[in-house]
Amino acid sequence: MSKHEDDLSNAAITWTNTMQAVFQPYAQCMLQATGGAIDLSQYSTGAGTGVADNIGSIRQHIDSGSMPMNSGGVDYKAIWAKANGKALFDRWYAAGYPQ
Ligand code: HEM
Repeated sequence: MSKHEDDLSNAAITWTNTMQAVFQPYAQCMLQATGGAIDLSQYSTGAGTGVADNIGSIRQHIDSGSMPMNSGGVDYKAIWAKANGKALFDRWYAAGYPQ
């Protein structure tokens, strides 16, 4: 691995530079599923509906593999796997899920 690639792979993952886009495909589904209680398009909200606001529950659902779930003929699990969602989330979480 070149020095440059090494720098990139070790770069800090933040909500803004990575995770917001990773969660984007599931935001609409989850808004509907939870009646607005979890908004995966937001880091944090005054109403407590953002990802950082619900990090414990979100982590548990990702760890167990129960989320993302497939729905409406869309293979959300495949989108998540292709985007390397689990590994990116784990790195972000371990770093203290910075904004
Ligand atoms: C990485 C993506 C996703 C994450 C992190 C996630 C996270 C969560 C969490 C934390 C809950 C529990 C909510 C609560 O306790 O009130 C939940 C429930 C739920 N989610 Fe997701 N979700 C994701 C993707 C999706 C997608 C794509 C759908 C498509 C329909 C979906 C449908 C649901 C439904 C129906 C529930 C309620 C029923 C249940 O708990 O099994 N989610 N999700």
